[in-house]
Amino acid sequence: MAKTFKPLQTPRLLLRPVTLADWPAIHRYMSDPTVTRWLPEGTLDEAQSQAFARKNAGRSGTAIAVIELASDELVGHMIFHPWYGHATHEIGWVISPGRQGRGYATEAAHALLDYAFGALRCHRVIATCQPENPASWSVMEKLGMRREAHFRQGLRQPSGEWWDEYFYALLADEYVAAAAPVVNP
Ligand SMILES: CC(C)(COP(=O)(O)OP(=O)(O)OC[C@H]1O[C@@H](n2cnc3c(N)ncnc32)[C@H](O)[C@@H]1OP(=O)(O)O)[C@@H](O)C(=O)NCCC(=O)NCCS
Repeated sequence: MAKTFKPLQTPRLLLRPVTLADWPAIHRYMSDPTVTRWLPEGTLDEAQSQAFARKNAGRSGTAIAVIELASDELVGHMIFHPWYGHATHEIGWVISPGRQGRGYATEAAHALLDYAFGALRCHRVIATCQPENPASWSVMEKLGMRREAHFRQGLRQPSGEWWDEYFYALLADEYVAAAAPVVNP
């Protein structure tokens, strides 16, 4: 998917396919345990960051690079891929610590929702995170996604730790209705 993804621009960001050359920028934040605390893949070493860039530069990739237009720097990546069939896609986000809290994840996600419900004609977009990660579920709620489930201890980590999981979703109709101007309020 990532290789065939055509770049999308937002007011402050460019979303484009990951390239092999991106690995050092990705490694800077994916080697930071404060960033990866709630990511199933955990902290990446250099070889794993290279493998991540290689995989996502190819057809099997699920990550899209987020470039800050003002600095031309890679400041994070979005996860975006079909979820048990084309009609539903999963969306996710990682933004480097120095660029968090500026609305970048929300801005990048809006562009992907436009793409999902527009060009891709998706029916539904879903996202998951842990209850202990309010920065992530705040993004879901700012996007208008609905919390559909709270799974208790549904994910077991290699460490043996069990994670609860929030499950959010948004339907194409809901996205279009939320964006439509209000007629005769
Ligand atoms: C989740 C993440 C991508 C958000 O990126 P971001 O660019 O900072 O997101 P935004 O600025 O668009 O929105 C974040 C929102 O969360 C809120 N938030 C951040 N930390 C919070 C906290 N501890 N408690 C409550 N709300 C919090 C922010 O205030 C903001 O909401 P606001 O605009 O209403 O103020 C970023 O924190 C990150 O990369 N975290 C590490 C990786 C990760 O956990 N990814 C998600 C895996 S499911």
